[in-house]
Amino acid sequence: MSFHMVELITAKRDGRRLTDEQIDWVIRGFARGEVPDEQMSALAMAVFFRGLDDAELSRWTTAMIASGERLDFGELRRADGEPMPTVDKHSTGGVGDKVTLPLAPLVAACGVAVPQLSGRGLGHTGGTLDKLEAIPGWRAELTNDELFAQLGEVGAVICAAGAGLAPADKRLYALRDVTGTVESIPLIASSIMSKKIAEGTSAMVLDVKVGSGAFMATEARARELGAAMVRLGADAGVPTTALLTDMNTPLGRMVGNALEVAESVEVLAGGGPADLVELTLALAREMLTAVGREAIDPADALADGRAMDVWRRMIAAQGGDPTAELPRAAHHHVVRAETSGTLTTLDARAVGVASWRLGAGRSTQGERVQAGAGIELHRALGEPVTAGDPVLTLHTDTPERFETALAALAGGWTVGPDEVTRGPVIIDRIS
Ligand code: URA
Repeated sequence: MSFHMVELITAKRDGRRLTDEQIDWVIRGFARGEVPDEQMSALAMAVFFRGLDDAELSRWTTAMIASGERLDFGELRRADGEPMPTVDKHSTGGVGDKVTLPLAPLVAACGVAVPQLSGRGLGHTGGTLDKLEAIPGWRAELTNDELFAQLGEVGAVICAAGAGLAPADKRLYALRDVTGTVESIPLIASSIMSKKIAEGTSAMVLDVKVGSGAFMATEARARELGAAMVRLGADAGVPTTALLTDMNTPLGRMVGNALEVAESVEVLAGGGPADLVELTLALAREMLTAVGREAIDPADALADGRAMDVWRRMIAAQGGDPTAELPRAAHHHVVRAETSGTLTTLDARAVGVASWRLGAGRSTQGERVQAGAGIELHRALGEPVTAGDPVLTLHTDTPERFETALAALAGGWTVGPDEVTRGPVIIDRIS
């Protein structure tokens, strides 16, 4: 069956439903390069404003999965021949959100395989692959055979989704990044769940971010997104739960690719900032519970170095040198407090946009990111500050970027006389 793309765009623009056949046709055609980017961008914008109902969203996601291959980890075995359950987590995207880096080896150290197919930065939020590529030699692209072999041998893999997995999402994700169509519940839900269902994991845990640095600024919208994804997982037979977590202020103290790798290694060494450790352990517990291993306490594997051991093997298996010095940016700019008091604002979006402008993210499709660019936070929200203290250090290889980054930070951090306490990192659980 064939349709006219303009008719689909105008139907959605005017608030009408798309039929199953129309959805199958457009997603298949776009994945094959038969629907041009400008028309898909227009349809994405129409979906952004008009949404998709539950049945349309379910069909859209199914069509995205059907645009490529599906992996199956059912044959995965431990060394003793026992079946190895797989579980994956996905975050909707945040600032300083490097949780995947310590989490995948941590859960693998608890005996559960983690095939973590990850993405690159989207808008002001960082991407797991961009972060890991800061490690000298590390390679994001693996063949399916390499992925299966590493999962059996090491238990954890963080890599790019191969070209064959949900190719419709790959094209649409890149297009949304540059057309202002990221912050849409159906587009985010179908993007995440199509990749994850195609990847073949046996269970799924979602970290749905809420706040200024998230794609969903309000709790109500984040809940709606979480519920839509949990429903899509259940429809596809993949048990899925979600944690609703705070993204009004950055997670941890480091934002930017190499900076976030360094902080993740601190967590694996048993240190790291309290909010990052709390969220990593909470997600690890969710993942273990999802595959019936709730009796295992992941804190033990952090404390006794087993998670660090898996990290080193995971990085080395992909060509990386886990002992190599991480790249540092050539230029630094320290921002100091002018008055004494408490850090009463530290806005995640302002920090994310500033880090992006320093070179940690992209502004055009395919641009190279700077490994060393980003922001070091010397104070967290609610901490005391004395006049003259460093509050932030900006890092970049291209110092002409300091001006736009500082402009993005204006009003994004304030020191005042009031006491401020940060709200809970974990707001709720959706199942
Ligand atoms: N992560 C994804 O994979 N897709 C989105 O649309 C947003 C975050």
